Amino acid sequence: MQAFRAALLRFDDQGQALYDEDGLLVVGPGADGRKVVRAAGAYARLKDNFPGVAIEHLPGRILAPGFLDLHVHFPQTDVIGSPAEGLLPWLENYTFPHEARFSDPVYARGVAEVFLDELQRNGVTTALTFCTSHPHSVDALMEEAQRRRLRLIGGKVLQDRHSPDGVRDETEQSLLDTEALIRRWHGTDRLGYAITPRFAPSCSEAQLRGAGELAAQHRDVWIQSHVAENKDEIRWARELFPRSRSYLAIYQDFGLMRERAIYAHCIHFDDADRQLMRDTGAAAAVSPTSNLFLGSGFFDYEGARRVGFKHGLASDVGGGTSFCPFHTMLAAYYVGREGQTKPGLSLSPQNLWWQHTAGAAQALGLEGVVGNLQPGCEADFLVLNPKATPLLARKTSNAQDLDELLFSLIVLADDRAVERVYIDGAPA
Ligand code: GUN
Ligand code: ZN
Repeated sequence: MQAFRAALLRFDDQGQALYDEDGLLVVGPGADGRKVVRAAGAYARLKDNFPGVAIEHLPGRILAPGFLDLHVHFPQTDVIGSPAEGLLPWLENYTFPHEARFSDPVYARGVAEVFLDELQRNGVTTALTFCTSHPHSVDALMEEAQRRRLRLIGGKVLQDRHSPDGVRDETEQSLLDTEALIRRWHGTDRLGYAITPRFAPSCSEAQLRGAGELAAQHRDVWIQSHVAENKDEIRWARELFPRSRSYLAIYQDFGLMRERAIYAHCIHFDDADRQLMRDTGAAAAVSPTSNLFLGSGFFDYEGARRVGFKHGLASDVGGGTSFCPFHTMLAAYYVGREGQTKPGLSLSPQNLWWQHTAGAAQALGLEGVVGNLQPGCEADFLVLNPKATPLLARKTSNAQDLDELLFSLIVLADDRAVERVYIDGAPA
């Protein structure tokens, strides 16, 4: 067992932050051999409960759960910052040509390493990630994640139409490949598989039907896709599937909405869409830096709260501009404030942080597993330095309460504040 003494941030079941200015985090083997949180709370209360366990004192530091990224594309690591007149030209001019390079397994492996290094540097310990349509892109990512003992979820992209040579797959084979990858990777160590139709316009009816059948056969496998991101994309999806009530309803009509289904963006929704999200248990991966960069629109937090569907934060790199959870939380704050196209509201710093940790875990059906430091959670955590830069030090040392401290970090921190990352109880 190991113990760490520092400030300690966790969340209760209601999503309220719990904060011990002088806290203790005790980590030890869990039932299946993985390292888990054995105790967490005030140092004064817990310090005598673990005689013989060495306590590492980290004065001035904050122990916090590793961040979760609910939607990211590992093959788009090098697509970041590619400007375009919106989503569809961006896909055509930058993204598809770049993803075609992943036909080379050696290239895929190299990018997987860089991608996982970037997640780690930024304190992201779990991600739900797209690969490319090439099955070996999944192997490249999973093998590297397995070596690093990460809890990571990914899937081969399905796109059998309206996609150029080099990324377009073949309907029957794409479904066979998906099934083989589920068997190879889902539940292997800490890895999980996600059935990954790119978006309805890139998938034939037969491919979507096959994806839905796999989702019904493998209930604990995840589903990930995109929906209602951009007005041109929505128009196109509605033309291709005129019988569905809305863009989102296409996925419902093919059996792709259920718990563990994560849809990126979810911007241009009506209340019937929101109710469909709520009633099926699907979750939104809110991707604010991507939506601002591509000019897609603003996620309606008021609508999500009013109807009550699950949502959490995502980078959506390479549409997104940063792997950094602090940058994503700040962008989500801007998006919440926007009040010209939908009601504007001020998201609290605690809520922003929850959306990127325990709330994101809840969206994935992994509450109590990752994204928190309550007893029983897997020991993926961060040591944050709230004085990592001069301005951050000034701001955080004047913080009057937890909200001020967290907001200072959200606005001013970056990867320099992530001093150490622990994966499965060991420094990464
Ligand atoms: N819609 C379909 N593919 C993509 C993608 O790669 N990124 C984003 N942001 N939207 C998509
Ligand atoms: Zn995306």
